[in-house]
Amino acid sequence: MNSRREFLSFLAASPLAFGADDVISDPKQALDIMDFEEAARRKIPIAHWAYMATGVDDDATLHANRDGLLRLKVRPRRLVDVSKVDSSVELFGTKWPSPVYISACGSQKAFHPDGELGTARAAKAKNAAQMLSTVSSTSVEDVAAALGRPPWYQMYAPRQWEGVEKMVARVEAAGCTVMFLTVDVNPGRNTETQRRLSKADTRNCTVCHGSGGPGSNSTRPMVAGINGGILGQAITWDFVDRLRKLTRMKLLIKGIETHEDAQLAVEHGVDGMVVSNHGGRAMDADRATIDVLPEVVEVVHGRVPVLVDGGFRRGSDVFKALALGATAVGIGRPYLWGLGAFGQPGVERVLDIFHAELLLTMRQCGTRSIAEITRAYVS
Ligand SMILES: Cc1cc2nc3c(=O)[nH]c(=O)nc-3n(C[C@H](O)[C@H](O)[C@H](O)COP(=O)(O)O)c2cc1C
Repeated sequence: MNSRREFLSFLAASPLAFGADDVISDPKQALDIMDFEEAARRKIPIAHWAYMATGVDDDATLHANRDGLLRLKVRPRRLVDVSKVDSSVELFGTKWPSPVYISACGSQKAFHPDGELGTARAAKAKNAAQMLSTVSSTSVEDVAAALGRPPWYQMYAPRQWEGVEKMVARVEAAGCTVMFLTVDVNPGRNTETQRRLSKADTRNCTVCHGSGGPGSNSTRPMVAGINGGILGQAITWDFVDRLRKLTRMKLLIKGIETHEDAQLAVEHGVDGMVVSNHGGRAMDADRATIDVLPEVVEVVHGRVPVLVDGGFRRGSDVFKALALGATAVGIGRPYLWGLGAFGQPGVERVLDIFHAELLLTMRQCGTRSIAEITRAYVS
């Protein structure tokens, strides 16, 4: 500490300066990702917070994702020249400075008035990949404009084939080249925590959501005009085959949790997959995604990229997934916390913290590139 200014900025970043209750009031004060959670909770209406925070049933899978990551440990190697470290990855012809991408989360205007546009502007500023949800509160066209490139698109399959064709044509016309088909919530789910917490919200939902209430198509521009709606229970691998033939976009499946399905996915010609349990929001007896990852990586055997998400909150978490063979790591709630607390600057800071922590972990472990992070670095 060699100047008064440095001392003051040290104090500003100190938990002591957060105020009596330790909640950050500026993204710069955040020391880690979790600092955004409480800041967001205080600003977001309780029913909307409930939608974000919930898992299903007892929220056991939600917690399992974290527990799995915390159980896994790294095996750092010493005395390696780590003065230059490069965390960039290439995915589908694009080079990204970090393997951390923004995974699809619906209805982002529920967390901040800027919604998906705030997220897109942050992703643009930090050159991060952004996946846009089918149930977004902003259209793919508007997000592409704010992002300065088309986003990755996440599809919830329309129930009628005509709707699938319409949705694919629209996102292709918007310039999207990568699409993720999410397959883990089609059977239905029980978001108990959401329903429990929402009881405390006494506002009249129809004032903002219209007569259809939350989830109605009037607030979901990508679902509006899709006859029959989305998320049928009859979807099978035949659907994947038809979709594969329909689109020139790269097609990935999001929500793989077994090596059997990973093998089927490759056989059905997909370009990649995400090991995901929807952030613990689909079923409540699932394994941590970090525990599923090795069996999927083994059976896929490098034929297509394997991505993973669920519970990633630290750069060291990301490092662990890379060591187990993931090509990239998705985040959900962390950037929603940043968005809900501070809008675009919050999302930017979340991405910055992940990046800084990953670089530090790479240095600590003596790995200078993503390629150098192998299984030998975890135990
Ligand atoms: C509020 C919220 C909304 C979500 N909406 C979608 C969605 O529309 N489509 C989808 O494929 N996944 C959705 N997800 C799952 C995320 O894409 C991702 O798989 C998950 O959040 C990762 O776990 P994490 O939140 O622990 O980082 C959502 C997650 C949250 C928290």
